[in-house]
Amino acid sequence: MNVVEVQNLSVRFGDYYAVRDISFTVKAGEVFGFLGANGAGKTTTIRVLCGLLIPTEGRTWVCGLDVQTQSFEVKKKVGYMSQKFTLYDDMNVKENLDFAASLRKLDVKKFTEQKEKLLSFIHFRASEKTLVRELPGGVKQQVSLVAALLHDPELIFLDEPTAGVSPAYRQRFWTLIGDLASEGKTVFVTTHYMDEAEHCQRIALMREGELIALNSPLGLKQENFPERNSEDVTLEEVFLHQVEGK
Ligand SMILES: Nc1ncnc2c1ncn2[C@@H]1O[C@H](COP(=O)(O)OP(=O)(O)OP(=O)(O)O)[C@@H](O)[C@H]1O
Ligand SMILES: [Mg+2]
Repeated sequence: MNVVEVQNLSVRFGDYYAVRDISFTVKAGEVFGFLGANGAGKTTTIRVLCGLLIPTEGRTWVCGLDVQTQSFEVKKKVGYMSQKFTLYDDMNVKENLDFAASLRKLDVKKFTEQKEKLLSFIHFRASEKTLVRELPGGVKQQVSLVAALLHDPELIFLDEPTAGVSPAYRQRFWTLIGDLASEGKTVFVTTHYMDEAEHCQRIALMREGELIALNSPLGLKQENFPERNSEDVTLEEVFLHQVEGK
């Protein structure tokens, strides 16, 4: 089953196409990587798929719902950990999660159960009274993940969840992504770290608003460097070859 379906999507800001005529699908339970240089149109696409931005052209479906006509229902099915803003630094963990739950009008009992489950899922050991600004960057990102999962979404968009996070925490974050997928969640993730992209089942490569490649990590290596042993090819090389034209 396709959890995401994008047909001929374009988003124009003034005369500028941030996204130009892209089409792709994401399957249920997939870890789908969305890669591209700065300004390639990744966040813009995610905002459309979360029902936060009306596209210029094209149609999109998420969890079987038409995003344009059923955006209210879509918001119940998807979680979104945004690139720019995740948590209030001057509030503690409990206050942030309570606030996230109140925005979604979650039932108190269900929210409390889900919060406990998720905090133990990330092995959160600090006090919930800790101010977010005092958490290590990697833990802050994990708490942001909890906030995005409180309503138990089927599909979760993670926009650069590991940006600025140290290697051990990055690795830990990808373990969590793997665990979510094995529970049947679909994960749509962007990253600039090519070693991380290896964990994705399939990768879409964006360049200047266009989708220029879509394949498994191995498929991308074989496609781009057919003459080489793909075990010796890195995704970094594929990325430079495709996205930066080198
Ligand atoms: N609201 C907006 N108004 C005008 N231009 C915008 C708007 N949002 C995005 N853009 C432009 O659209 C292009 C694509 O932006 P987008 O944020 O989708 O890129 P991205 O792939 O997420 O990049 P990054 O890796 O830096 O996060 C950029 O040139 C950006 O400046
Ligand atoms: Mg972005």
